[in-house]
Amino acid sequence: VLRTLPPTAAPVPFRYLLYALLKSIGGERSESHFRDEIKAYFQARHAFLLSSGKAALYLALVSLQQISNRREIIIPAYSSFCLASAAARSGLRIKLCDIDRQTLDFDLNALERLADHRTLCMIPVHNYGLACDMEAIRERVSGRGTYILEDAAQGAGASLRGNKLGIAGDLGILSFGRGKNFCALGGGAILTNNDTLASVVTQEVEKLSKPTRSSEAKLYVIGAALGLFLHPERYAIPSALPFLHLGANVFDPNFKTSRLPLISAAVGRRTLADLDHENEIRIQNACFYRSSLISNPRLLIPTTTTTARSVYLRFPVFFKKKLDREKALHLLTKERLGASRSYPTTLAQIPGFRNSLILCEIPNANWVAERILTLPTHRYVREMDRTRIVNLINTATKQDYNDTISH
Ligand SMILES: Cc1ncc(COP(=O)(O)O)c(C=O)c1O
Repeated sequence: VLRTLPPTAAPVPFRYLLYALLKSIGGERSESHFRDEIKAYFQARHAFLLSSGKAALYLALVSLQQISNRREIIIPAYSSFCLASAAARSGLRIKLCDIDRQTLDFDLNALERLADHRTLCMIPVHNYGLACDMEAIRERVSGRGTYILEDAAQGAGASLRGNKLGIAGDLGILSFGRGKNFCALGGGAILTNNDTLASVVTQEVEKLSKPTRSSEAKLYVIGAALGLFLHPERYAIPSALPFLHLGANVFDPNFKTSRLPLISAAVGRRTLADLDHENEIRIQNACFYRSSLISNPRLLIPTTTTTARSVYLRFPVFFKKKLDREKALHLLTKERLGASRSYPTTLAQIPGFRNSLILCEIPNANWVAERILTLPTHRYVREMDRTRIVNLINTATKQDYNDTISH
């Protein structure tokens, strides 16, 4: 089978599944250990474990609605369709805020214009593990009575001034989903240091059921399949099966919400212990891409605030010319190097999402959606792979290459 890099990969070794199985047979409460370990790692006073990152976002929004009459939220216009799914499910009205091309963070001027007395909360998202400037966001909107719900689904382990992301807002969420850097086969969490918010979230979480035995069993099967097929030597097999919809961006507000599966709690304990090491590999690969591509005048390479340590779930680059991106993607896909366009459109273009939206101008989000390419950063990316990736991008953006193609 041809070596094929997955766009994202956070391996869950078989021994972690075995560990989960043994803990489950032994009747150990992995959940409370996992919660304590998360609290210690993220320096959070409260952590709530749920079935997914979407469930965590949704429950956080439901909780905020219990303590405020405001019914609008602000989210970035270019981000995960999962964020849109959870936002739509909350029933709140949604303003899409334009983003900053250089950081993928909110465009802070646009954010300041949009936040008003109707705004319940805003949701900064650390897209691809690039840290948003949480201090700047807080400064811009302070005094407006607006909560900050930090979406650290893609940024677990990243930090700002040495403090872990996920706890810089009033509430924060994590995802333990497949393809995230903190993978536990599924699951998510709400973090907070605010005791009042924590007591509201507690009430909401208590209403949730435990996952069914069959959904637990399904996760063992998924875990085993991931362990087998996520490796570059075998990834060509699942990637050739269209019905698996690998990497698909799905807008679905009807997701299940429950507590965290036991298997995810046990697996999560192990992957949390690996998180810093895995992130270090991502950061090294991102450093290589940055230093190799920064001098290419036809690209724009994102940056984050100097106080941040971003973790790069993927490494995003922007092509100033749309056609260059298509050429680069074509070359990289042919060589099976794990490049991906990521989200195909802004959130404004998701058909089922439009009725929840208050329309706003989002020129930068449109620009990014048409020009972004994300490069793999995970542990399976070898030195040889990343060199080939850089060379192919440079080929695709060379003037004479473009001339040859167009004539
Ligand atoms: C930014 C962001 N928020 C939330 C989620 C939801 O996480 P989950 O897949 O665990 O529901 C995702 C997942 O893709 C995400 O990328």
